[in-house]
Amino acid sequence: MTNRRDIIIDTDPGQDDAIAILLALASSELNVLGICAVAGNVPLPLTHSNIRKVCELAQKQHTKVYVGCEKPMKRNLFTAEYVHGETGLNGAQLPEPTMALQDQHAVDFIIETVLAQPDQSVTLCTLGPLTNIGQALTKAPQIAPRIKQIVMMGGGLFEGGNVTPAAEFNVYVDPDAASITFNAGIPMVVMPLDVTHKALTTSARIEALRSLGTKVGVAAAEWLDFFERFDEEKYGIEGGPLHDPNVIAYLLKPELYKGRHINVEIETDSPLTVGMTVADYWHVTDKPKNAVWITDVNADSFFELITERLAVFK
Ligand code: BDR
Ligand code: CA
Repeated sequence: MTNRRDIIIDTDPGQDDAIAILLALASSELNVLGICAVAGNVPLPLTHSNIRKVCELAQKQHTKVYVGCEKPMKRNLFTAEYVHGETGLNGAQLPEPTMALQDQHAVDFIIETVLAQPDQSVTLCTLGPLTNIGQALTKAPQIAPRIKQIVMMGGGLFEGGNVTPAAEFNVYVDPDAASITFNAGIPMVVMPLDVTHKALTTSARIEALRSLGTKVGVAAAEWLDFFERFDEEKYGIEGGPLHDPNVIAYLLKPELYKGRHINVEIETDSPLTVGMTVADYWHVTDKPKNAVWITDVNADSFFELITERLAVFK
């Protein structure tokens, strides 16, 4: 297929990351140049293993998987086994992966790929802490104007944070990397908690996946059964927010989303609010607009898209 969009996925699976990876691998509009592992939900050895488990589940063993940074740029790693389980992918039983990892470091892969591919052709899809991106932009700042777009899951304004009252997990874990990324002049689209909390895994939506009757459909349903329990209890809602697949769904069907072009800065110093995305949604400053901040999704169409695309895996 011509006109496929070249993407690099940077991720820390995580059940919701896993579904985002499957959605990308299922979609012929997207050309996945590589998948980079970063430490986040669980430590790095588990995130790169989980990426490969997901690729093997989808029978996409030839996908290139790169190992990235094992800790944030300036801080200790904070993980989220309390949400995702001790493997990061609790819920479904999958075999240990056998496919190879690439030798090149994820940061060097990102740099070399952006420099080697046509100008402004590569989109970075980030589903975890922005450490690999922050390191790549620090090591090779000349890549910034060559990147087509970053579509990321992270942050929150109206919904506040999910790790602290102010900070969402992906930005909280590595606020320094997030700050570098938001200040790099790259066109950004942000999927904050404000939109992901509108994409809830109701039982009907999970059953639609299970009803596919395939290994992928059943695994996806089992992951979501596990993953939603934490947020259902926390927020008292039916279903948990399905965060990361919004990044990929946006590339496939941007018409499902609504947002606003605004200035976003990252708090890196305050002990009380570190990791906060200070989002100027009401344009109360003259600061330059650096990100499209998404606040709405057509949730039914989003889940239909996921179910329909995951059906390609037999
Ligand atoms: C984000 O943090 C992780 O737990 C999820 O995978 C998602 O990327 C939500 O705050
Ligand atoms: Ca994630």
